[in-house]
Amino acid sequence: MPTFSQVQSSNASYSPTYVPVAIFAGGTSGIGQAMAEAFARCTQGKAHIILIGRNSDAAARVIAGFPKPPVTEVGWRHEFVACDATNMSEIRAICATLRGQLTRLNFLVVSAGFNSMAVSKTTSEGLDYHLALRYYSRYVYFKELLPLLKNARQQGQHAHAMTMLGAGLGAPISTDDIGLDRARSQTINALRGVMLSFAALKGMAYSPGYNDAMVAYFASQNPGIAFTHIHPGFVKTSGMHTDTGWLLAPISWLYELVMVFIAVQPETCAEYMLYALLDAERGMFLRSPTANIFSTHAFDTPVKLDISSPTAHQTGVLNGVRLKGYSGSDITVRKVMEYTEEVTCAKSIGR
Ligand SMILES: NC(=O)c1ccc[n+]([C@@H]2O[C@H](COP(=O)([O-])OP(=O)(O)OC[C@H]3O[C@@H](n4cnc5c(N)ncnc54)[C@H](OP(=O)(O)O)[C@@H]3O)[C@@H](O)[C@H]2O)c1
Repeated sequence: MPTFSQVQSSNASYSPTYVPVAIFAGGTSGIGQAMAEAFARCTQGKAHIILIGRNSDAAARVIAGFPKPPVTEVGWRHEFVACDATNMSEIRAICATLRGQLTRLNFLVVSAGFNSMAVSKTTSEGLDYHLALRYYSRYVYFKELLPLLKNARQQGQHAHAMTMLGAGLGAPISTDDIGLDRARSQTINALRGVMLSFAALKGMAYSPGYNDAMVAYFASQNPGIAFTHIHPGFVKTSGMHTDTGWLLAPISWLYELVMVFIAVQPETCAEYMLYALLDAERGMFLRSPTANIFSTHAFDTPVKLDISSPTAHQTGVLNGVRLKGYSGSDITVRKVMEYTEEVTCAKSIGR
């Protein structure tokens, strides 16, 4: 495991021979912002950096703080793209525009999240709100921007997609209510505001496992590219706070108190996250808050996960290889991906 000073000096020594292109979806605040700032610092601003979020004022402030290369330098650009990540059609439209404007993408980081144990609702497209931000949107970004990552790899450059949520914290994936429709329908009729929280809790608990499944799936299909699911740890950002509702409020107060002592500053976390982003060639990676790789697996050729293999049903095993902290099995990964493809591309949401 790298020390913090090793991480800092490794990041500072990053000096690509090309102008890197990086997207931070969630880069207008929190860890995504700190990571975009760290990336801008280590490239001295000589990068094409795209922040995606909803808050254009925040984005303008973040971008204004980036170091700016001399005007004689070409290829760099710092810009903001507005997108509501709960809306899959909007993400697809923005990715289509980006595919038209960019020739390649070196780094994709998706960190926009939502935490609530009390609120369970659906998006305008009928998707579970927790899953939309914590998982579906990430799948759509990965899928729609994959051609640009492939172009970067073909040019011998970094090609890495990272999702930031809760690697190592996923519950074993269950496939009987993937989209949580049943959880919501059961609890909405019960005591609103009390029972409802259990559907929200499921959204929080299941999404890290779905992110595991997503990086495993994309790595199995795209052997030349790196896909990482990372856990940032406890970090002093708005994303650290969880709306627990009145029932669990006392636990929430205790949690907030403990966090004052153990949570780190976003700048500290961002150095580790950036190290993880720059330190991956190809394959799937599950990484801890200090960028420690606790599981990794690389495929040599594209593999369609074989659901008839003897290990296909085993949780924590990917294509016959046991992975520490991994929530999927080949069968559950296949089912979650098929379900995700169906609901995020449904005609009803503008495909
Ligand atoms: N902080 C922690 O202690 C902690 C611990 C464990 C896991 N995590 C996870 O790590 C990730 C990053 O954490 P964080 O604390 O930086 O996250 P955060 O505060 O939840 O995320 C902030 C970013 O998400 C964007 N965002 C939120 N809703 C959006 C929406 N509907 N559409 C588009 N963008 C949206 C915000 O942009 P706009 O405001 O511009 O829309 C902002 O850039 C999250 O997935 C979080 O759940 C965090």
